[in-house]
Amino acid sequence: MAEEKRAVTMDKLVNLCKARGIIFPGSEIYGGMGNTWDYGPIGVEIKNNIKRAWWKRFVQESDNSYGIDAAILMNSRVWEASGHTTSFSDPKMDCKECKSRHRADNLIEAHSKGKVNPDVMTNEEMEAYIREHRVCCPICGKFNWTNIRTFNLMFETSRGVTDESQNKIYLRPETAQGEFVNFMNVQRTTRAKVPFGIAQIGKAFRNEITPGNFIFRTIEFEQMEHQWFCKEGTDVQYYGEFKQKAWKFLTDLNFSEEHLRFKDHDKLAHYAKCACDIQYLFPMGWSELNGIHNRTDYDLSRHQEFSGKTMQYIDPVTNEKYIPYVVEYSIGADRLMLAVLTEAYDEETLSDGETRVVLHLHPALAAYKAAVLPLQKNLSEKAEEIFKELRKHFPVTYDAAGSIGKRYRRQDEIGTPYCITIDFDTLNDGTVTVRDRDTMEQVRIHSDELAAYISQKIIF
Ligand code: GAP
Repeated sequence: MAEEKRAVTMDKLVNLCKARGIIFPGSEIYGGMGNTWDYGPIGVEIKNNIKRAWWKRFVQESDNSYGIDAAILMNSRVWEASGHTTSFSDPKMDCKECKSRHRADNLIEAHSKGKVNPDVMTNEEMEAYIREHRVCCPICGKFNWTNIRTFNLMFETSRGVTDESQNKIYLRPETAQGEFVNFMNVQRTTRAKVPFGIAQIGKAFRNEITPGNFIFRTIEFEQMEHQWFCKEGTDVQYYGEFKQKAWKFLTDLNFSEEHLRFKDHDKLAHYAKCACDIQYLFPMGWSELNGIHNRTDYDLSRHQEFSGKTMQYIDPVTNEKYIPYVVEYSIGADRLMLAVLTEAYDEETLSDGETRVVLHLHPALAAYKAAVLPLQKNLSEKAEEIFKELRKHFPVTYDAAGSIGKRYRRQDEIGTPYCITIDFDTLNDGTVTVRDRDTMEQVRIHSDELAAYISQKIIF
């Protein structure tokens, strides 16, 4: 619901992330490097937990899916077969006045406030729209554009030690191709029967024309991709199932359904039979969070053609030979991180009039599951004993500095779900106070029960 009043803004998130060790600007001491970001001590834990939750759901708990970790650098023929060398490009226009570079489709979308869909337009139609509506440069306000040129988004590099032996190679722009080229390896070694899935999490790189919005669109990012190999004719059913699975993954992570929506692609990629996104209501508005694509047998057929190696599956019962169809589910780990932080961020007015900033993260995603807080310095021995015992079970932090109220606030801001206070009664009867981040209610339990008490609350 766009009308809903939310405390979160992009500026508040960026500031909180920097202040609390979640995400820092990349190469900051050298003045930064546009649109690169470094995850700090809290951020890396949250992002790892996001990746773990995804892997658990789509590999560990899947009936027939297998994980891989393919190389980032692949034989250049992979990208010829996939079509990336010829068609992985965006329509760019340069402002001749201020030399800034823009995507023509973005200019039209912004100008028409989303009413015109540039995805269904040719380059000539986009140029005509921009001309007829005098869409000016959003940086300098002038109207002096180059024609549209297509701009390949792949980062190139070269391998070899001498100039003569240099060969152009690419940083992968998606992890999916690693899954396709390993289709036969995985099927043979696992003896998986179609339908089955291959998943991986890894870095991808795109020379985006218009990166931005914090970690929403960057030039280096991580993808979590799952390819489901199935027989033609069952693909439509699995496409529907993956839409539901992708949605449920998000709502199980405490996303409000009000902030999610499906959006069918109007213009399909050359390989796709149907495709949709789940969009999320980010601080800057509704935008793609993940994609679900019915890629047909395009990828495996192309790799069979370009490599000369068979990609045919032989049904062990019927002996039928065929190239499977693929239903792809793809989500950016960093983009999901931004959505998770946006969804979790809140500002609450307390009974004493103070405002607390709190991240209502799903406990499975929180960097620390608990914080151990001795009420006074002379309780530190007992507190450290409890801390050292608990950290054998899950990540825990320890904080003895400042008033108890300030310590609660610090933990609220990084989303620690439980604060354990050690007081003088702890020395007498072994009990501690456990404060719940969301309700701020406190319960008194024995320290021997802490590990079990918290463990059952942090499962995803
Ligand atoms: N294999 C299909 C594929 O790569 P995509 O829609 O281009 O499809 C999938 O990317 C997901 O990867 C997106 O939904 C988004 O979550 C993430 N993603 C794509 N480009 C990104 C970028 N420049 N920065 C951060 N995340 C990105």
